[in-house]
Amino acid sequence: EKGGFGSFMDKEIHDQPKAVADTLLGRLDERGRLQLDDLRIDEALLRSVDKIIVVACGTAAYAGHVAKYAIEHWCRIPVEVELAHEFRYRDPIVTPRTLVVAVSQSGETMDTLMAVRHAREQGAKVVAIVNTHGSTIPRESDAVLYTHAGPEIAVASTKAFLSQITAAYVLGLYLAQLRGNKFPDEIRQTLAELREMPAKIQIILDRAQKVRDVARSMADEKSVLFLGRHVGYPVAMEGALKLKELAYIHAEGFAAGELKHGPIALIDEGQAVIVVVPSPKGRDSLHSKVVSNIQEVRARGARTLVVAEDGDDDVVPFADEVFRIPASPTLLSPLLAVVPLQIFACELATAKGLDVDQPRNLAKSVTVE
Ligand code: F6R
Repeated sequence: EKGGFGSFMDKEIHDQPKAVADTLLGRLDERGRLQLDDLRIDEALLRSVDKIIVVACGTAAYAGHVAKYAIEHWCRIPVEVELAHEFRYRDPIVTPRTLVVAVSQSGETMDTLMAVRHAREQGAKVVAIVNTHGSTIPRESDAVLYTHAGPEIAVASTKAFLSQITAAYVLGLYLAQLRGNKFPDEIRQTLAELREMPAKIQIILDRAQKVRDVARSMADEKSVLFLGRHVGYPVAMEGALKLKELAYIHAEGFAAGELKHGPIALIDEGQAVIVVVPSPKGRDSLHSKVVSNIQEVRARGARTLVVAEDGDDDVVPFADEVFRIPASPTLLSPLLAVVPLQIFACELATAKGLDVDQPRNLAKSVTVE
């Protein structure tokens, strides 16, 4: 069943090119029209949406963070991301023109389900991005966009995360098209670039040995910090979550710009810092700012492990290790940048002799509030 891999998690990491491709398959035509699996929201209503709130927990919420950056850019609709258990209890502003997007692998997470119910009671429409067919959240939502990741057995989410991000892109591109995005060429081009992502993920998997070797050398690590900026920020948080869950190592993800506002005090000799570097072609100032962050932590003794695009030589002088990913448009880059971090956590936990498929104290779906 593990298809020759040492764990379900390792197998599922390797399933990711297919998970992304299958989530895209047949979903969008060249004009960006979306085929929702089950749509009970009329298009006029979707056109009138004035706010989107993504509700989710854990890894699925990090997919929501990525969705916010992409959907706001493509659709110019304000997007909030909220942990489902916080949303429900703070009297959020929800109206019939609010679209709530509930993201869940299992479709059974009680916190997320309660948020869906709360949103619908306030008159909002809910689109579910869910992996498990026939689960409760899609049944209680107005529309469902299934992620076609296939069954995810390992407790820690990997391929479901990439499919959630993919489905969120599909939803964003669809809304952009429906609402008459001013840049139809951009939408068309993004679709074409999205279709190239599975092959790029495969390239990272083919190069994984370097990440594995570094991870194996770090089995005694007590704390690892992750830095990222823009869409690299949720990637950093997801990398930290994977390491906590699987390897029981204290890990924290920070927005790189926040470093100087406090977290830099944590840096001393030998502190491992993993940095997700934005594309040098993207918002150029962001790239150079993150490179400066690497320089700053290194000057204070940090050991720097850097995820950077092929050909980005600016990072080399300040990096102890560089994990390379293929070039991609910034908004799509989380589909690539997170993969070395998943492999890192999986391999490090394996090196510690831990059961990566069944980490202690965790369940695959959390069906209590
Ligand atoms: C992390 C992980 C959890 C889940 C979270 C939501 O690896 O698996 O953080 O992402 O419990 O679960 P779903 O997506 O089933 O609602």
